[in-house]
Amino acid sequence: MTRHFIDLAGAGSDGLRAMLDAARTRKQARKGLPKGRADSDAPLAGYTLAMIFEKNSTRTRVSFDMAMRQLGGTTIVMEAGSMQLGRGETIADTARVLSRYVDAIVIRTDDHQKIIDLAEHADVPVINGLTDQSHPCQIMADLLTVLEHKGRVEGLEWAWLGDGNNVLHSIVEAASLLEFPVRIACPEGYDPDPRVIAAARERGGAISTSRDPAEVVRGADIVVTDTWISMGQEHAEAKLAAMMPYQVSEALMAQAAPDAAFLHCLPAHRGEEVVDAVMDGPQSLIWDEAENRLHAQKAVLLWCLGKL
Ligand code: CP
Ligand code: NVA
Repeated sequence: MTRHFIDLAGAGSDGLRAMLDAARTRKQARKGLPKGRADSDAPLAGYTLAMIFEKNSTRTRVSFDMAMRQLGGTTIVMEAGSMQLGRGETIADTARVLSRYVDAIVIRTDDHQKIIDLAEHADVPVINGLTDQSHPCQIMADLLTVLEHKGRVEGLEWAWLGDGNNVLHSIVEAASLLEFPVRIACPEGYDPDPRVIAAARERGGAISTSRDPAEVVRGADIVVTDTWISMGQEHAEAKLAAMMPYQVSEALMAQAAPDAAFLHCLPAHRGEEVVDAVMDGPQSLIWDEAENRLHAQKAVLLWCLGKL
Protein backbone atom coordinates (compact mmCIF):
# COMPACT_ATOMS: atom_id res chain seq x y z
CA MET A 1 0.00 0.00 0.00
CA THR A 2 1.38 3.39 -1.00
CA ARG A 3 1.54 5.69 2.01
CA HIS A 4 0.11 9.08 1.08
CA PHE A 5 0.14 12.02 3.50
CA ILE A 6 -3.03 13.87 2.58
CA ASP A 7 -4.45 14.43 6.02
CA LEU A 8 -3.29 13.66 9.54
CA ALA A 9 -6.05 11.12 10.14
CA GLY A 10 -4.64 8.97 7.33
CA ALA A 11 -1.42 8.52 9.29
CA GLY A 12 -3.25 7.76 12.55
CA SER A 13 -1.96 8.40 16.08
CA ASP A 14 0.84 5.84 15.79
CA GLY A 15 2.03 7.32 12.52
CA LEU A 16 2.05 10.83 13.95
CA ARG A 17 3.93 9.72 17.05
CA ALA A 18 6.51 7.85 14.96
CA MET A 19 7.06 10.92 12.78
CA LEU A 20 7.39 13.29 15.75
CA ASP A 21 9.86 10.95 17.36
CA ALA A 22 11.96 10.68 14.19
CA ALA A 23 11.87 14.43 13.62
CA ARG A 24 13.10 15.13 17.12
CA THR A 25 15.86 12.53 17.05
CA ARG A 26 17.16 13.57 13.63
CA LYS A 27 17.10 17.27 14.52
CA GLN A 28 19.19 16.54 17.60
CA ALA A 29 21.59 14.21 15.77
CA ARG A 30 22.62 16.77 13.10
CA LYS A 31 23.03 19.79 15.37
CA GLY A 32 25.98 21.93 14.28
CA LEU A 33 26.27 20.49 10.76
CA PRO A 34 26.12 22.89 7.78
CA LYS A 35 22.52 22.95 6.58
CA GLY A 36 23.32 21.53 3.15
CA ARG A 37 25.23 18.51 4.46
CA ALA A 38 23.39 15.19 4.40
CA ASP A 39 22.54 13.32 7.60
CA SER A 40 25.14 10.63 8.28
CA ASP A 41 22.79 7.78 7.31
CA ALA A 42 21.41 9.57 4.17
CA PRO A 43 18.31 7.33 4.19
CA LEU A 44 16.86 8.74 0.95
CA ALA A 45 20.02 8.57 -1.16
CA GLY A 46 18.92 7.88 -4.72
CA TYR A 47 15.35 9.15 -4.14
CA THR A 48 13.78 12.12 -5.97
CA LEU A 49 10.86 14.25 -4.82
CA ALA A 50 8.79 16.30 -7.29
CA MET A 51 6.97 19.37 -5.95
CA ILE A 52 4.06 21.06 -7.72
CA PHE A 53 2.98 24.54 -6.65
CA GLU A 54 -0.31 26.06 -7.74
CA LYS A 55 0.10 28.75 -5.05
CA ASN A 56 2.96 30.75 -3.59
CA SER A 57 5.22 29.27 -0.94
CA THR A 58 8.40 30.09 0.95
CA ARG A 59 8.54 27.66 3.88
CA THR A 60 7.00 24.58 2.27
CA ARG A 61 9.14 24.87 -0.85
CA VAL A 62 12.45 25.48 0.91
CA SER A 63 11.90 23.12 3.84
CA PHE A 64 11.00 20.17 1.59
CA ASP A 65 13.91 20.94 -0.72
CA MET A 66 16.39 21.07 2.17
CA ALA A 67 14.72 18.06 3.79
CA MET A 68 15.44 15.96 0.71
CA ARG A 69 19.05 17.20 0.53
CA GLN A 70 19.62 16.37 4.20
CA LEU A 71 18.12 12.91 3.68
CA GLY A 72 20.49 12.36 0.76
CA GLY A 73 17.91 12.75 -2.05
CA THR A 74 17.11 15.36 -4.70
CA THR A 75 14.10 17.45 -5.78
CA ILE A 76 12.39 18.83 -8.86
CA VAL A 77 10.30 21.93 -8.13
CA MET A 78 7.61 23.01 -10.60
CA GLU A 79 5.06 25.81 -10.79
CA ALA A 80 1.81 24.24 -11.98
CA GLY A 81 1.41 27.01 -14.56
CA SER A 82 4.61 25.99 -16.31
CA MET A 83 3.55 22.33 -16.55
CA GLN A 84 1.17 20.77 -19.07
CA LEU A 85 -1.17 20.58 -16.07
CA GLY A 86 -1.60 24.32 -16.58
CA ARG A 87 -2.72 23.68 -20.20
CA GLY A 88 -5.33 21.11 -19.28
CA GLU A 89 -3.47 17.79 -18.96
CA THR A 90 -5.46 15.94 -16.35
CA ILE A 91 -4.28 15.44 -12.80
CA ALA A 92 -4.72 11.67 -13.29
CA ASP A 93 -2.39 11.60 -16.31
CA THR A 94 0.09 13.85 -14.51
CA ALA A 95 0.06 11.40 -11.61
CA ARG A 96 0.68 8.41 -13.88
CA VAL A 97 3.59 10.10 -15.66
CA LEU A 98 5.32 11.55 -12.59
CA SER A 99 5.08 8.13 -10.91
CA ARG A 100 7.36 6.77 -13.65
CA TYR A 101 10.06 9.38 -12.91
CA VAL A 102 10.08 10.24 -9.22
CA ASP A 103 9.68 8.55 -5.85
CA ALA A 104 7.25 10.96 -4.17
CA ILE A 105 5.17 14.05 -5.02
CA VAL A 106 4.32 17.13 -2.94
CA ILE A 107 1.48 19.28 -4.23
CA ARG A 108 0.15 22.64 -3.06
CA THR A 109 -3.24 23.18 -4.63
CA ASP A 110 -6.34 25.33 -4.50
CA ASP A 111 -8.71 22.41 -4.56
CA HIS A 112 -8.48 19.50 -2.13
CA GLN A 113 -10.16 17.19 -4.65
CA LYS A 114 -7.09 17.53 -6.89
CA ILE A 115 -4.82 15.94 -4.29
CA ILE A 116 -7.32 13.12 -3.80
CA ASP A 117 -7.30 12.53 -7.57
CA LEU A 118 -3.52 12.76 -7.73
CA ALA A 119 -3.13 10.16 -4.98
CA GLU A 120 -5.69 7.87 -6.57
CA HIS A 121 -3.71 7.71 -9.81
CA ALA A 122 -0.15 7.89 -8.48
CA ASP A 123 1.93 4.81 -7.67
CA VAL A 124 4.19 6.87 -5.39
CA PRO A 125 3.39 8.72 -2.15
CA VAL A 126 1.55 12.04 -2.52
CA ILE A 127 2.07 14.66 0.19
CA ASN A 128 -0.23 17.59 0.95
CA GLY A 129 1.80 20.81 0.85
CA LEU A 130 -1.44 22.77 1.62
CA THR A 131 -4.89 22.75 0.09
CA ASP A 132 -7.90 24.97 0.66
CA GLN A 133 -9.05 22.28 3.13
CA SER A 134 -5.98 21.37 5.18
CA HIS A 135 -2.29 21.89 5.92
CA PRO A 136 -1.09 18.74 7.69
CA CYS A 137 2.66 19.31 7.13
CA GLN A 138 2.39 22.61 8.99
CA ILE A 139 0.75 20.98 11.97
CA MET A 140 3.49 18.34 12.17
CA ALA A 141 5.91 21.25 12.67
CA ASP A 142 3.59 22.86 15.23
CA LEU A 143 3.34 19.61 17.20
CA LEU A 144 7.11 19.18 17.12
CA THR A 145 7.53 22.74 18.42
CA VAL A 146 5.08 22.16 21.27
CA LEU A 147 6.75 18.85 22.14
CA GLU A 148 10.17 20.50 22.29
CA HIS A 149 9.07 23.45 24.39
CA LYS A 150 6.47 21.83 26.64
CA GLY A 151 7.78 18.27 26.82
CA ARG A 152 4.45 16.79 25.73
CA VAL A 153 1.56 17.25 23.33
CA GLU A 154 -1.22 15.34 25.11
CA GLY A 155 -3.49 17.33 27.39
CA LEU A 156 -2.25 20.83 26.55
CA GLU A 157 -5.07 23.31 25.87
CA TRP A 158 -5.00 25.09 22.51
CA ALA A 159 -6.93 28.26 21.68
CA TRP A 160 -7.53 29.20 18.03
CA LEU A 161 -8.57 32.74 17.13
CA GLY A 162 -9.76 34.14 13.80
CA ASP A 163 -10.61 32.44 10.53
CA GLY A 164 -11.91 28.85 10.47
CA ASN A 165 -9.44 27.80 7.78
CA ASN A 166 -7.24 24.99 6.43
CA VAL A 167 -4.66 25.31 9.23
CA LEU A 168 -7.36 25.08 11.88
CA HIS A 169 -8.80 21.98 10.21
CA SER A 170 -5.48 20.17 10.58
CA ILE A 171 -5.10 21.30 14.20
CA VAL A 172 -8.55 19.92 14.97
CA GLU A 173 -7.62 16.62 13.35
CA ALA A 174 -4.36 16.44 15.32
CA ALA A 175 -6.23 17.18 18.54
CA SER A 176 -8.48 14.19 18.05
CA LEU A 177 -5.54 11.90 17.30
CA LEU A 178 -3.11 13.05 19.98
CA GLU A 179 -5.61 13.88 22.71
CA PHE A 180 -5.40 17.59 23.37
CA PRO A 181 -8.38 19.95 23.63
CA VAL A 182 -8.90 22.81 21.19
CA ARG A 183 -11.13 25.82 21.87
CA ILE A 184 -12.06 27.80 18.79
CA ALA A 185 -13.25 31.39 18.49
CA CYS A 186 -14.20 32.54 14.99
CA PRO A 187 -16.62 35.32 14.05
CA GLU A 188 -19.99 34.34 12.66
CA GLY A 189 -19.78 33.37 9.00
CA TYR A 190 -16.14 32.26 9.25
CA ASP A 191 -16.49 28.99 11.13
CA PRO A 192 -14.44 25.89 10.28
CA ASP A 193 -15.98 23.14 8.14
CA PRO A 194 -18.54 21.40 10.39
CA ARG A 195 -17.63 18.04 8.81
CA VAL A 196 -14.05 18.39 10.10
CA ILE A 197 -15.28 19.24 13.59
CA ALA A 198 -17.80 16.36 13.57
CA ALA A 199 -15.19 13.83 12.39
CA ALA A 200 -12.78 14.94 15.13
CA ARG A 201 -15.48 14.69 17.78
CA GLU A 202 -16.36 11.23 16.53
CA ARG A 203 -12.75 10.20 17.16
CA GLY A 204 -13.14 11.51 20.71
CA GLY A 205 -11.62 14.96 20.12
CA ALA A 206 -12.44 17.64 22.72
CA ILE A 207 -13.27 20.48 20.33
CA SER A 208 -15.32 23.45 21.54
CA THR A 209 -16.43 26.62 19.78
CA SER A 210 -17.36 30.09 20.98
CA ARG A 211 -17.71 33.63 19.64
CA ASP A 212 -15.82 35.04 22.63
CA PRO A 213 -12.03 35.32 22.16
CA ALA A 214 -11.34 35.98 25.85
CA GLU A 215 -13.29 32.91 26.95
CA VAL A 216 -11.37 30.72 24.54
CA VAL A 217 -7.94 32.04 25.48
CA ARG A 218 -8.46 31.94 29.25
CA GLY A 219 -5.87 29.58 30.75
CA ALA A 220 -4.79 28.20 27.35
CA ASP A 221 -1.31 26.66 26.99
CA ILE A 222 -1.04 27.36 23.26
CA VAL A 223 -2.53 30.38 21.46
CA VAL A 224 -2.60 30.11 17.69
CA THR A 225 -3.87 32.14 14.78
CA ASP A 226 -3.33 32.55 11.05
CA THR A 227 -3.91 35.10 8.32
CA TRP A 228 -7.51 36.30 7.99
CA ILE A 229 -7.32 36.16 4.19
CA SER A 230 -5.92 32.89 2.87
CA MET A 231 -4.40 32.42 -0.58
CA GLY A 232 -7.09 32.35 -3.23
CA GLN A 233 -9.56 34.36 -1.10
CA GLU A 234 -10.77 37.86 -1.95
CA HIS A 235 -9.38 40.65 0.20
CA ALA A 236 -12.67 41.67 1.85
CA GLU A 237 -12.99 44.68 4.17
CA ALA A 238 -16.09 43.15 5.79
CA LYS A 239 -14.12 40.07 6.75
CA LEU A 240 -11.26 42.10 8.20
CA ALA A 241 -13.73 44.11 10.29
CA ALA A 242 -15.42 40.95 11.61
CA MET A 243 -12.02 39.49 12.53
CA MET A 244 -10.67 42.53 14.42
CA PRO A 245 -11.98 41.48 17.89
CA TYR A 246 -10.09 38.20 17.40
CA GLN A 247 -6.70 39.86 16.92
CA VAL A 248 -4.04 38.32 19.18
CA SER A 249 -3.05 41.34 21.24
CA GLU A 250 -0.91 41.56 24.38
CA ALA A 251 -4.10 41.98 26.43
CA LEU A 252 -5.56 38.78 25.01
CA MET A 253 -2.28 36.88 25.46
CA ALA A 254 -2.26 37.97 29.12
CA GLN A 255 -5.44 35.95 29.69
CA ALA A 256 -3.75 32.71 28.62
CA ALA A 257 -1.68 30.58 31.01
CA PRO A 258 1.38 32.52 32.29
CA ASP A 259 3.74 30.27 30.31
CA ALA A 260 1.49 30.05 27.24
CA ALA A 261 3.16 29.83 23.82
CA PHE A 262 2.12 31.69 20.69
CA LEU A 263 2.17 29.91 17.32
CA HIS A 264 1.58 31.18 13.77
CA CYS A 265 2.32 29.19 10.62
CA LEU A 266 3.47 32.35 8.77
CA PRO A 267 3.33 34.40 6.64
CA ALA A 268 1.83 36.80 9.20
CA HIS A 269 0.01 40.03 8.57
CA ARG A 270 1.36 42.06 11.44
CA GLY A 271 -1.26 44.44 12.83
CA GLU A 272 -4.09 42.27 11.52
CA GLU A 273 -4.39 38.83 13.12
CA VAL A 274 -1.52 39.49 15.54
CA VAL A 275 0.37 42.51 16.87
CA ASP A 276 4.16 42.91 16.71
CA ALA A 277 4.52 42.74 20.49
CA VAL A 278 3.13 39.18 20.50
CA MET A 279 4.90 38.05 17.30
CA ASP A 280 8.25 39.29 18.63
CA GLY A 281 7.51 38.76 22.33
CA PRO A 282 8.93 36.19 24.75
CA GLN A 283 6.00 33.77 24.37
CA SER A 284 6.31 33.54 20.60
CA LEU A 285 7.72 30.29 19.19
CA ILE A 286 7.24 31.26 15.55
CA TRP A 287 10.86 30.97 14.41
CA ASP A 288 11.33 27.54 15.96
CA GLU A 289 7.98 26.62 14.42
CA ALA A 290 9.20 27.73 10.99
CA GLU A 291 12.51 25.88 11.42
CA ASN A 292 10.62 22.77 12.44
CA ARG A 293 8.95 22.62 9.04
CA LEU A 294 12.30 21.22 7.86
CA HIS A 295 12.61 18.59 10.58
CA ALA A 296 8.94 17.62 10.40
CA GLN A 297 9.03 17.33 6.61
CA LYS A 298 11.97 14.94 6.83
CA ALA A 299 9.93 12.67 9.06
CA VAL A 300 6.91 12.88 6.72
CA LEU A 301 9.09 11.86 3.78
CA LEU A 302 10.60 8.95 5.71
CA TRP A 303 7.18 7.77 6.84
CA CYS A 304 5.74 7.96 3.31
CA LEU A 305 8.69 6.07 1.86
CA GLY A 306 8.42 3.27 4.40
CA LYS A 307 11.55 4.18 6.34
CA LEU A 308 9.78 4.62 9.67
N1 CP B 1 3.45 28.11 6.50
C1 CP B 1 3.60 27.88 5.18
O1 CP B 1 3.10 26.90 4.63
O2 CP B 1 4.38 28.79 4.55
P1 CP B 1 4.59 28.94 2.97
O3 CP B 1 3.27 29.40 2.40
O4 CP B 1 5.66 29.97 2.85
O5 CP B 1 4.99 27.62 2.40
N1 NVA C 1 -4.28 29.75 5.63
C1 NVA C 1 -3.14 30.19 4.87
C2 NVA C 1 -1.92 29.42 5.24
C3 NVA C 1 -0.67 29.84 4.53
C4 NVA C 1 0.52 29.01 4.88
C5 NVA C 1 -3.45 30.06 3.39
O1 NVA C 1 -4.06 29.06 2.99
O2 NVA C 1 -3.10 30.96 2.63
